[in-house]
Amino acid sequence: MDKYMSCGSILSAGGSGPFEKALSSDWADMVDGFQKAALESRLGIPLIYGIDAVHGNNSVYGATIFPHNISLGATRDTDLAYKIGVATALEVRASGIPYNFAPCIGVCRDPRWGRCYECYGEDTEIVRKMTTIVSGLQGQPPEGHPKGYPFLAGRDKVVACAKHFVGDGGTDKGINEGNTLASYDDLERIHMAAYLDCISQGVCTVMASFSSWNGTKMHSHHFLLTQILKDKLGFKGFVISDWQALDKLSDPHGSNYRNCISSAVNAGIDMDILNLVESGEIPMARIDDAVERILRVKFVAGLFEYPMADKSLLDTVGCKMHRELAREAVRKSLVLLKNGKDPKKPFLPLDRNCKKILVAGTHADDLGYQCGGWTFNWSGTSGRITIGTTILDAIKEAVGDKTELIYEQNPSPDTFTGQDFSFAVVAVGESPYVEDGGGDPELIIPFNGAELISSVAERVPTLAILISGRPVTLKPELLEKIDGLIAAWLPGSEGGGITDVIFGDHEFQGRLPVTWFKSVEQLPMHVGEDSYDPLFPLGFGLRSNNKRLSD
Ligand code: GLC
Repeated sequence: MDKYMSCGSILSAGGSGPFEKALSSDWADMVDGFQKAALESRLGIPLIYGIDAVHGNNSVYGATIFPHNISLGATRDTDLAYKIGVATALEVRASGIPYNFAPCIGVCRDPRWGRCYECYGEDTEIVRKMTTIVSGLQGQPPEGHPKGYPFLAGRDKVVACAKHFVGDGGTDKGINEGNTLASYDDLERIHMAAYLDCISQGVCTVMASFSSWNGTKMHSHHFLLTQILKDKLGFKGFVISDWQALDKLSDPHGSNYRNCISSAVNAGIDMDILNLVESGEIPMARIDDAVERILRVKFVAGLFEYPMADKSLLDTVGCKMHRELAREAVRKSLVLLKNGKDPKKPFLPLDRNCKKILVAGTHADDLGYQCGGWTFNWSGTSGRITIGTTILDAIKEAVGDKTELIYEQNPSPDTFTGQDFSFAVVAVGESPYVEDGGGDPELIIPFNGAELISSVAERVPTLAILISGRPVTLKPELLEKIDGLIAAWLPGSEGGGITDVIFGDHEFQGRLPVTWFKSVEQLPMHVGEDSYDPLFPLGFGLRSNNKRLSD
């Protein structure tokens, strides 16, 4: 255990954990093991363990998997974001972990970026509204809490991390870890504003972005990390590097790795420090400042008073209340894009007591697809990955006893022979992805999803449900054929939120948090630009009576 003796922090990067399908209690035992070793070290300073719980405690089997941030952006519901933060904090602490690398407050300016779904949208004001999740995760600072100082309310709260500072979502062509070309004023107005909201809520940490601003890597950007974030904005928590980001500062041969570390730490990175003090490449004053910031957060997190897991929280993991909250979030996130070939004759709500329903599509019965990336493994996966409800599960629960339901993932012409379906529900979309793996210049619905919708819609009145982390290409001829169209984003474990709305128990209220393009050739495209000519504009969303929802 010696190797942990001088360890100040450990993280579980996407997908790493005790073992497959480990329960929260297994995680807590693992983290406590590391903590015990740290407490036995020379100074006995507790370590801080971090994880990416970006839509619930998504690494832990049986945890509530909330919709991803783009779904929440479609709700514009600040109270919902706060409540999800509260629930996530409980489930993360139940696994013994006090530090969550969330929220991502990137402003996604190009949906070709593979992390669009991790953002609340393309509009700064939507992202700013949803930062209430920080107060849910950490607790709300009391009146008079000193500006910029980290705050944490107790052992059922977690240290949050506003990321990725700054301009991660503004890179040229949405290239991941790319270059954000912008004036300082635009960088501040579009990409930095939400950080002020997080700092005003006492956010404990900020993660630097892999990306660059006008050609200079954020991880070595002294002006932005120190002069702006720490000095001008008064941030008193600590700045953490992104995963192996310092390695990415080095030249291809890695010959100047020492320089990369010293340039990053001297620029303002606090956590990721190695032994460069003796050489003087990093002044002791910089080390003192970094150590002070890290210790400040550890004290605020209560790690000195209660370093070990609180197993009394285990009952909160995947509990009914949290799943109901996730289901509410799904309901509120659904954006109705079309309802009826004739708007005067709405297609939705569907009749749950009709004679016969066809459910089809690659995403109708796949929990992994519903959850998307950052779920159990880094990039996500398909299949029955955890405890949850697929769209098919939910439809089976929702329809009447006399309604016959036929499920065909990939229907053929024979599926329709001799069948008089009342309607079809076809769920298609993207397979899970993360970071570099999500870059997509074309944004075509995978698995021939558009063709599948079309083949069904030619035969039966059809509701198409898109499970995706961003807008995808929808051709006019496809749109004409379908009777109903819903953007369901990445809803997570509670598919029941979808049937709550399509069968009319709840009204649609979601509005696009991103522009829905006509063609990728238009990208990047933003409200206010002369070239703005979307298929569905930012903020679009219908009620079931085909009236536009308004901001
Ligand atoms: C990743 C991501 C960042 C995450 C970190 C730790 O590469 O960029 O969002 O928090 O590594 O997993």
